[in-house]
Amino acid sequence: MRAASQAQPNIALVKYWGKRDAALNLPVVGSISITLESLWTRTDVRFVPGHKEDRVSLNGRSDEAEGKRIKACLNLLRERAGVDYGAEVASRNNFPTAAGLASSASGFAALVHAGARALGLDLSLAEQSVLARRCSGSAARSLFGGYVEWAHGTLADGTDSVARPLLDAEAWPLRVAVAITSTAAKQVGSTEGMRRTAETSPYQSAWIDTQETDLGVARDAIRERDFDALARIAEYSCLKMHALALAAQPGLLYWNGATVECMHRVRALRQQGVPVFFTVDAGPQVKAVCAPSAIEQVKAALRDVAGVLDVLDTALGEGARAIVPEAVEA
Ligand code: ADP
Ligand code: DP6
Repeated sequence: MRAASQAQPNIALVKYWGKRDAALNLPVVGSISITLESLWTRTDVRFVPGHKEDRVSLNGRSDEAEGKRIKACLNLLRERAGVDYGAEVASRNNFPTAAGLASSASGFAALVHAGARALGLDLSLAEQSVLARRCSGSAARSLFGGYVEWAHGTLADGTDSVARPLLDAEAWPLRVAVAITSTAAKQVGSTEGMRRTAETSPYQSAWIDTQETDLGVARDAIRERDFDALARIAEYSCLKMHALALAAQPGLLYWNGATVECMHRVRALRQQGVPVFFTVDAGPQVKAVCAPSAIEQVKAALRDVAGVLDVLDTALGEGARAIVPEAVEA
């Protein structure tokens, strides 16, 4: 009753922000993302018949708050399998946790992928995507690699709010430079940020009304490998999501000074003809997506920005997959 899995974070190009059902974690809008390659979560799950408690270690530490969210996810798996065994979970991220780099996406995708196998559940990736979505929305997308769309769905039970692959990573191998401007955990998590936005931002309905058009534009850009079109729609969706959240009360300001400077730097590069665009999630890091030929120039430009602590570099990667348990602590 033991299995281990690896999953990578994904970065949304057309953003998810807002829930139509908080209990089932159903989004008000669909979203489109790219799955990364070199950032990862590795998770080892073992169910122990007769044990009532869960023992959870994240990055080598047990933490009650993290334990609760992971336990809620284990409960969904146990419910599906019809068992009540306690679990031992050890998980590790090779990048900062809860800092706007989508650790919740890779974390819950890896947990569902490993946990389902440990319980002998024969679930398709789509079924795992539905379960992962209930633990963290963006995790629905990390089951799949490359370019991925998560549908908002229309059914009340959420069974059609599932992610699906749009295009393999190798079919359009873009690169991503990630400028780290702070490794501190964010003050307002995505779940709370979305709740506050829906309750107080006057732009919420405009956000929902315009998303279908954005998804269509991004889908076309991906199908046609049209970098300029993808750059325009991705920056637009990112800035629109932040405008929506900035207009909440109190306003959600996820950026620091270096975040803004990096965005200017990316736009300056694009004006010089470098194929690159930015996107920023609920945190201060800037992800610069570019053609493979531009990656060194983009990394150098971001490293040069005052306040940038580090610049990671990744290709696009695959979805969740099985690994040997020993790889988690290796
Ligand atoms: P991020 O921007 O990194 O996704 P969030 O605040 O949205 O930040 O999510 C962070 C939360 O995701 C953590 O507090 C924890 O509950 C969960 N998480 C992160 N890493 C893992 C992991 N490896 N396994 C399980 N859950 C994880
Ligand atoms: C800004 O998936 O972390 O990264 O569903 O409440 O766990 P919960 O939120 P989460 O939110 C991600 C928000 C985002 C945009 C995106 O990934 O689409």
